Amino acid sequence: MCGIVGYIGELDSKEILLKGLEKLEYRGYDSAGIAVRNADGVTIFKEKGRIADLRKAVEDDVHSKTGIGHTRWATHGVPNQLNAHPHQSESGRYTLVHNGVIENYHLLQKEYLPGVEMKSDTDTEVIVQLLEKFSQDGKTTSEAFRHTLSLLHGSYAIALLDSEEAQTIYVAKNKSPLLVGLGDDFNVVASDAMAMIQVTNEYVELHDQEMVIVKKESVEIQKLDGTVVERESYTAELDMSDIEKGMYPHYMLKEIDEQPAVMRKIIQAYQNEQGKLEIEEGILTALNNADRLYIIAAGTSYHAGLVGKEYFEKIAGIPVEVHISSEFGYNMPLLSEKPLFMFITQSGETADSRQVLVKIKKLGHPTLTVTNVKGSTLSREADYTLLLHAGPEIAVASTKAYTAQIAVLALTAAVAAEKAGHPIDFDIVQELGIVANAVQAMVDSKEEMEKIARDFLSTTRNAFFIGRNLDFCVSMEGALKLKEISYIQAEGFAGGELKHGTIALIEDGTPIFALATQKAVSLNIRGNVKEVVARGANPCIIAMEGMEEEGDTLVLPKVHPLLTPLVSVIPLQLISYYAALHRDCDVDKPRNLAKSVTVE
Ligand code: F6R
Repeated sequence: MCGIVGYIGELDSKEILLKGLEKLEYRGYDSAGIAVRNADGVTIFKEKGRIADLRKAVEDDVHSKTGIGHTRWATHGVPNQLNAHPHQSESGRYTLVHNGVIENYHLLQKEYLPGVEMKSDTDTEVIVQLLEKFSQDGKTTSEAFRHTLSLLHGSYAIALLDSEEAQTIYVAKNKSPLLVGLGDDFNVVASDAMAMIQVTNEYVELHDQEMVIVKKESVEIQKLDGTVVERESYTAELDMSDIEKGMYPHYMLKEIDEQPAVMRKIIQAYQNEQGKLEIEEGILTALNNADRLYIIAAGTSYHAGLVGKEYFEKIAGIPVEVHISSEFGYNMPLLSEKPLFMFITQSGETADSRQVLVKIKKLGHPTLTVTNVKGSTLSREADYTLLLHAGPEIAVASTKAYTAQIAVLALTAAVAAEKAGHPIDFDIVQELGIVANAVQAMVDSKEEMEKIARDFLSTTRNAFFIGRNLDFCVSMEGALKLKEISYIQAEGFAGGELKHGTIALIEDGTPIFALATQKAVSLNIRGNVKEVVARGANPCIIAMEGMEEEGDTLVLPKVHPLLTPLVSVIPLQLISYYAALHRDCDVDKPRNLAKSVTVE
């Protein structure tokens, strides 16, 4: 949700910033801008739209060795050129980019900036105008920046240029992610290592309420009281092929295709040299000590959590509640005596989930983050981390992270069960191997999925996904995938629930995607399909091998009944992908969405 970059060194910063922003476009893409500094002062280019639009607007003959950039996902103020970052103070001395939300910007404006005319509708502009005010009051830039930061309530990752100080980028962070990348004779700033991996793989993480003075040959991290902080750098384990589309037309398709390989990578990552599954001892103890597991997540990760509940209850015998993070933090239920909190988050940065983590830590309960991003905020701040090993997920719509979450939860539940002395009666590694093959068969059936998308979704305004038990969990994810990238209104329902109201929406031709992978309820879901067909619905029935009936649209290769979500979701991902393509939608960057949602 908004991405920022910065460069200070010997090369022309413009191209490095634009390339960095292209890599960050998954974080927001309604407007973008860069500010570059050279002997003529600071020049700003900003545009409504994509980085490609910004690129066209940037003048070729402007050269500079220092600059900052931003790609925006609007929070305060509509997406337009005026509200795009960078923002500049009244005299033009300070220029900054910001990711986050300043909650008290109105109050600060009223108290400190009564006569200042704001050029934009953003909360960000208040920061830059405050800086100017405090520097006019006699403070140095460092002092003015520190003082301004101490007044801000909310989240921020900031990169700041002072036109009177050519050799420095000032940086600060609170709640929003930010890294400083280290190079020979240059340094960079980025919301995500991916943005700058083309120039360096050496990074230093920043913690909340830190300010950094970045020069081309040095990086000084300070707390807001001015104390200098020493921190080791780390090497980002990313390679360019992980973040390039390669031969694929879209990241989403590449990521769907990567799922069999991710499944195998997860099995490997959680096996020791003897081939035995291994989960960190502290995590197993925490699970087995807990009288209840609270899974907290948002969106697709929440849907993975619903599947995880089945695993921890059925495999490990641990009672589980699954909660939407934005609700849980502000309306906490009565907690059990010995709860364990599990945060499922692909990015490890989702603000809704993080606010819960902060509250739970204050209550002193143990916490575990399941994430794809090592070193992410929720990973750093929880007691334990389980990594997904899915590789960077760049398409906004989550695919491989969802299946990776489910696989990691299944493995963890199985190991916890064994540790608790009641091992499961099937070989989870072998079964996940079978799943990987089944997923491969599904991703190899793209033509079939494209046809289903064409047959069922080319003209419809809405669609329903139904299933029971685990199939209900997957139905919700199928519906989310379809609506987020194709803009077809779609809902996932428990098969039995549709008739309690929503069936009123069924008309002639309304597409219904019905999943039938659960033997215990297969007759019931077939009955629910009949109910909607009787009212004119157009059913696409996706059944597991052994449970298929004549007229079913798709038969999934057979896998263990608990692991069916890993397979049944694949056609739904692909059908959504093709439905979006047929409708000319921007698959990787759907309107209004951002990959990493760092505001509440
Ligand atoms: C949908 C999607 C979102 C995320 C949600 C939580 O395809 O990707 O629903 O799942 O924003 O994000 P994370 O998992 O990063 O906490």
